[in-house]
Formats: sequence, C-alpha cells, structure tokens
Amino acid sequence: MRLRSVELETPDRNAAVRFLKDTWGLFDAGARNGTAYLRGTEDLPYVVSVAESRTPGVAAVTFCGTQEELERIRAGASAAGIRTGPMRAFDEPGGGSGFLLEGPEGQTFRFVAQSEPVEKLPPDRDRPLQVTHVVINVRDREACTRFLVDALRFRLSDRTRFMNFIRCDSVHHSIAYAQSHISSLNHVAFEMRDLDAVMRGIGRLKDAGFPTVWGPGRHGPGNNVFAYFVTPFGAVLEYTSEVQRVGDDYRVGGPEDWKWPPNRVDHWGVSTRDSAAMSEAEKNFRFRALQI
Ligand SMILES: [Fe+2]
Repeated sequence: MRLRSVELETPDRNAAVRFLKDTWGLFDAGARNGTAYLRGTEDLPYVVSVAESRTPGVAAVTFCGTQEELERIRAGASAAGIRTGPMRAFDEPGGGSGFLLEGPEGQTFRFVAQSEPVEKLPPDRDRPLQVTHVVINVRDREACTRFLVDALRFRLSDRTRFMNFIRCDSVHHSIAYAQSHISSLNHVAFEMRDLDAVMRGIGRLKDAGFPTVWGPGRHGPGNNVFAYFVTPFGAVLEYTSEVQRVGDDYRVGGPEDWKWPPNRVDHWGVSTRDSAAMSEAEKNFRFRALQI
C-alpha cells in the first residue's frame, strides 16, 4: 500500500494548476471531465488532481495497492462498521478500480488498484518525486488513529504532544493527524531528491514571491528536512527530503521522546515559523464528505 495522490478542489482551477506546474515543479498529466492531473517523477500516474468548485476542498486522499491489499482494507473497514462505497472503476490516469471510505471526521479516503503501469521520469532536482505525506487537522486524533491503525491496519510510528504519525509502508508517515479545533487539511508534503533540491525549491519559491512560512529545518519524527509555503490558492504545501524509512521493529515514540529546547521548532534549531499565516491557511481546505 502506498500513498498516491490528493484530490483537490478550488474555485480557480487554472490558476492552481499554473502554480503547481510552473512554480511548484509538477508535470502536466492531462485532464479529464473537468479535472486536471499533475505528476512527479516517480512511477505514479499523478499525485495531485485539481477540480473546480465553489469553495476549496479535499475530495479524497488516495492510496494505491494490489487487489489483495484492497481486499484486506475493505474487510477491515467492513468489520469496523466504516461507511464504504461500492467497488467501481476510475476514469483517471492510472485507471483501475477500487473504493472510497469515510474517516471519523468526514474525510474521504480512496483505495485504488491501478491497471496501467507508469514509468518513472528522469531524475530532476527541481521536480518533486511524489507526495510523501498528508497531515490532517482533526478534533479527536486518537479516534482517527484507531480508524487507520485498528480498522485499516496502518501502523503508528510516533506520537508527539500535538500529532500522531501513521504509516502504510516503510515511509515513516504517510498520514499524520494534528490535534486541532477544526477538521481540515493541515498540509501536503512533496518529496524532493535531496536536501539540495529542497534548498533550490526555497529559492525558486522565493523568486516567485512565496517565502517560506516555516523552514528550512529538520523535523523530529521522520527526521525529514522541510520547508513550508502558503500557496496562492490557499493550501499549505511542503518540500521535504530524507524522510526516514522504518521497519516492523521501529519503536513507537511518545511525547517524551520528542521535546525541543525552549524557542526551538526544528531539530537544527535554525527555523522560524509564521504560525499565524499557517493556521489561517489551514482553515481553507475542508474535507468533502463521502459521496456514495
Ligand atoms: Fe510535513
């Protein structure tokens, strides 16, 4: 199972797509039925879709896997009484079939077994590889964690005072739940080749008028290098690299393992964070309820 894509909706689709291609560095992966698709250099058909809608929203967070993995997820969801849509085919890059299901605070998760293999593109230090994690603001992160870990058999990697980090493969986290007073998108992280690619991305975004709102720095859980930006279409996006890969023997960390010295908000102790700008932007993208 692998995190594949985020399905976004926004009032000005073309402006968002322009930014994601020309500034953020994604490739055009075509458009179908009013939805634009964008990909990175990894072997995935797309990593972000953008549809037009009256208000910003996240239609789904999508995972891809084998038929067997999908069946296991579906059986777990059924046993836990999770609201799940029917099996259906998807008319989108990568094709295939799968289903949607609904998380505890109304988030829609989608599971797809793709039917069309996709080749990697040549490595490029100015292009994202793929989406590596999605962080979701929730009111009850323990209930949300139980949904992914107990019902769908994801694994808990770490817990801090504010966040729970959960994985579906060897990547330290593909979903994290951030404790909040609202349910919304916190941010989407795009994996870059290396630290140098993150730093070059910071330069490119700065030239385009988008300075970092947090970073560069290095996180505690996941040990990844990071830089966060508020995009012109209102979502918070992250460039990241060196995301930790873990095995079954990874010890689940707790809040006592992840404490910074005073005034420090990253492992290096170099970054400053515009928390007001980030919190404001985190209100923009709410999750769409599951449409069955
Ligand atoms: Fe992140």
